[in-house]
Amino acid sequence: YLDMPYMRAYEVASFYTMYNLAPVGRFHVQVCGTTPCMLRGSDDVMAACKNKGLNKGKTTPDGLFTLTEVECMGNCSNAPMVQINDDNYEDLDFDIMTGILEDLAADKKIKVGSQIGRQTSEPVGPSTSLDEMVNANHDYRKEW
Ligand code: FES
Repeated sequence: YLDMPYMRAYEVASFYTMYNLAPVGRFHVQVCGTTPCMLRGSDDVMAACKNKGLNKGKTTPDGLFTLTEVECMGNCSNAPMVQINDDNYEDLDFDIMTGILEDLAADKKIKVGSQIGRQTSEPVGPSTSLDEMVNANHDYRKEW
């Protein structure tokens, strides 16, 4: 159809994870496993998926979930994260991910984004950058 060797199309389709080479389940669970997410607990997120019967690269027998491990999806500051269909779920751990999978299976509505109440990618906890300067009410311009 594209008038090119099969391999040329296949190598592109198999490189980018947004191309599915086979039908996926109702919920396509894409777990980011790149370094920032890995350092913040993506192994626990993957373990929660496995504990619920999801296997990497496979669709569950009921057709509900397909599990894929993907590379960075640009949400590193809210790591670890997953994308499920068109939505991102962030600041995950084993228990939170377990709850998300249970809620999806039960057809419950799930809050997207940070699961620990962060607004977008604001810091966890109070601000720490430039606090000393702001709190001291010091006029640094006089020093220059
Ligand atoms: S490393 Fe996971 S979103 Fe960037």
